[in-house]
Amino acid sequence: MDYLPIFLDVRGKKVIVDGGITVAARRIERALSAGAIVHCFDPEPGDEVSAFLGQDNFVFHARVPQEADFEGCLVAWGASEEGPRDDLLFAAAKKYGVLANVADEKAYCDFITPSVVERDPLTIAITTGGAAPVVARILRARVEAMLPAAYGQLAAFLSPYRDRIAAKIKGGTARRRFWENLIEGSIGDAFLSGDRALAEHLVEQELAGDDKVLRQGEVWLVGAGPGDPDLLTFKALRMMQHADVVLYDRLIGPGILDLLRRDAERINVGKQAGNHVLTQEETTALIIKLAREGKRVLRLKGGDPFIFGRGGEELEDVAAHGIPVIVVPGITAAAGCGSSAGIPLTHRDHAQSAVFVTAHGKDGLLPHDWTRLARADQTVIVYMGLRFVGEIAAAAMAQGVPADMPIAVVDNGTRTSQRVIAGTLADIGEKVAAAKLKGPALIMIGTVVSLRGKLGVEGVALSETHEMELVARDGL
Ligand SMILES: C[S@@+](CC[C@H](N)C(=O)[O-])C[C@H]1O[C@@H](n2cnc3c(N)ncnc32)[C@H](O)[C@@H]1O
Repeated sequence: MDYLPIFLDVRGKKVIVDGGITVAARRIERALSAGAIVHCFDPEPGDEVSAFLGQDNFVFHARVPQEADFEGCLVAWGASEEGPRDDLLFAAAKKYGVLANVADEKAYCDFITPSVVERDPLTIAITTGGAAPVVARILRARVEAMLPAAYGQLAAFLSPYRDRIAAKIKGGTARRRFWENLIEGSIGDAFLSGDRALAEHLVEQELAGDDKVLRQGEVWLVGAGPGDPDLLTFKALRMMQHADVVLYDRLIGPGILDLLRRDAERINVGKQAGNHVLTQEETTALIIKLAREGKRVLRLKGGDPFIFGRGGEELEDVAAHGIPVIVVPGITAAAGCGSSAGIPLTHRDHAQSAVFVTAHGKDGLLPHDWTRLARADQTVIVYMGLRFVGEIAAAAMAQGVPADMPIAVVDNGTRTSQRVIAGTLADIGEKVAAAKLKGPALIMIGTVVSLRGKLGVEGVALSETHEMELVARDGL
């Protein structure tokens, strides 16, 4: 480590910023927000620096600094981009024992100005030791995106509970686990969602509970989206990195599983038609058992957990056992496939509504009223229908839906292996049979399908012939 990372208390101390351009304005801003008395020097300041005139703790000097100005100063920033001023600043800083930093002049830097993520009172400073400041800035942008804005307030909210928690829970590991559960579990979640009263109530409940209650785990029902790992939500990712045990099903691809916490236990409860790894009842019982052992149990589901995901069924039983639950939505397959296949689900000229249906229920193919569903002004999205696409098209035509109604099947939507087969009710069965799609696949019915390839969405320009060639080349 080339530099010592420390956070300096500059409240009420003299800080000099030499310069009147943007880089000076950023230094002034940061020093003022940390409570310093900022002396800024520049004969002709720009608008950004002038905007500080009149602010508390901001002292402006319409000239270049002189050596004597540095007496009694703690930190001096050179931000004028003028060599002679930088020389003077550094020499004067050395004379008076001031910590100096001249922008882009490593030899004139006693310290580095890091990239900072602020979630007051939480502050994260990032530096590459001067090697590549752009890397630090990019990293900062990522951390910014990962940390909900209210994280700092969460730290401030929990701070008053420290003594009570220390008195209540003995032992470092138990206490650490308790804190992690507070922050990553339903209490942190309630607070970050803006429900401070609920968060307070839950902390009090936790602190009032006996040790057995304190050891109780939680269940997080999280939607993992349609397959592309980049379509996970930040919240899903955060929970994936904190769960103790993860129960996932077959729609969750390896790219997503790679993002789980390394030492989290993984259990595949995946179901494939007729090939149940665990029954629904066994899965629910396992979730309850693991939560009762005090674990943070992540139930990871494809798409959105409450859309044809049986999320509701699982939670009913879990909630009946008094186990705290959190549900995190995911991008459902219809939204993901629509975007990645270039088929808008609604469009003012084509469809004023979109309806999601499942092809089959517990007892096989559902007898849908296709004339009501596949109307001229509506898009129908059929989940779990790949095996029945020919039967569905035939039933719709038999009920009077026009045979030239556009229809598409999106296979493995949003994934690199995505394939789209488009046609009409009359020919889709044959086309899909020839393509030998593997699934998961979604059926889209409606005139919006005719917009496919016209919206400039990447990946949709594949002509059907090309798709068929791909199929042939894959030997399918
Ligand atoms: C049990 S349902 C789960 C739906 C999920 N909860 C959701 O919100 O997307 C499974 C069905 O979702 C659809 N599906 C899920 N992921 C898909 C994908 N990447 N591409 C196409 N269809 C998908 C298929 O119709 C599949 O049979």
